[in-house]
Amino acid sequence: MSTMVPVLLSLLLVVGPAVAQDTQNRPYSLTYHSNGVSKPKEGFPSFQATGYLNDQAFFHYDSETEKAEPLGPWKQVEGMEDWEELSKFQKARGDFFLKNLKDIMGYYKDTGNHTMQEKYGCKLQNNNYCGAFWTVAYDGRDYIKFDTEIPAWIPLQPEALKTKVKWETEGSVQRTKASLEEECTGKLQKYLQFSRPFLDRQDPPSVSITSHVDPGNIRTLKCVADNFYPQPISLYWTQADSVVETESWGEGPLSENGTYQSWVVVKIPSLSRGPYSCHVQHSSLAQPLTVTWNKSQ
Ligand SMILES: *[C@@H]1O[C@H](CO)[C@@H](O)[C@H](O)[C@H]1NC(C)=O
Ligand SMILES: *[C@@H]1O[C@H](CO)[C@@H](O)[C@H](O)[C@H]1NC(C)=O
Repeated sequence: MSTMVPVLLSLLLVVGPAVAQDTQNRPYSLTYHSNGVSKPKEGFPSFQATGYLNDQAFFHYDSETEKAEPLGPWKQVEGMEDWEELSKFQKARGDFFLKNLKDIMGYYKDTGNHTMQEKYGCKLQNNNYCGAFWTVAYDGRDYIKFDTEIPAWIPLQPEALKTKVKWETEGSVQRTKASLEEECTGKLQKYLQFSRPFLDRQDPPSVSITSHVDPGNIRTLKCVADNFYPQPISLYWTQADSVVETESWGEGPLSENGTYQSWVVVKIPSLSRGPYSCHVQHSSLAQPLTVTWNKSQ
């Protein structure tokens, strides 16, 4: 009894405040991923861009349709964005982006098919700016990035020095800094007024266990947590209160309907009767969930 009480108390103390704090202080981010190809396949776009709120894609633009279109639950949201204005903005960005790709190919004296990827975005916590980034890759290798503190473009390849000089003389580093720290965060604040229900969603996992015996008389137990949101989740196996070493684990990408899947696998002697328990901790659960397997099942 004397050992049970402190364990239960600490469990209650950890679980109670953690859930409340999670929804209040969780950071929100607005991120744009863009991608350009110098020689796209016939009928495929040379420029594409996707906007993300946290881990969820909320619009996509491509240079074939020349349209920025809302995705997922954002298709039903009215008044968050003027999609025609955003389409025009992305078209201008795409033209500028492909011009930059041509310049970079010139610095490398490259011809043929090459790609450029760009990621930039900003983050808010407690409605305050708490960081931004801007990175560019050429043919999959980091090429140049923006430092908001200095502020300056930082070359990550020798050739990128030419891009730095061009961007810093033709454009203004102060304007780039402001576009991240002020425009991006302003947009994010506006988007959040329409998007909190999708981002603050707490979908509890459904947990299932599968078991099969390998030829070597080893049993594989797999515990799967399905359809939860958001990440992260914690999954582990125990037997008689001691943790069983994880053999492998994995996680799926965000599914069409906006949920995740994760799993954890252990290997046990096929004759072992158990019971073995899979423990699941997630922000949607007031207390950890335990699902038990034993041989009779
Ligand atoms: C050029 O490369 C991109 C990205 O790897 C690819 O999607 C595209 O099809 C390529 N173009 C041609 C003409 O093969
Ligand atoms: C998500 O899709 C899966 C199948 O892909 C389905 O089993 C599940 O019920 C869906 N979850 C929600 C929350 O709609």
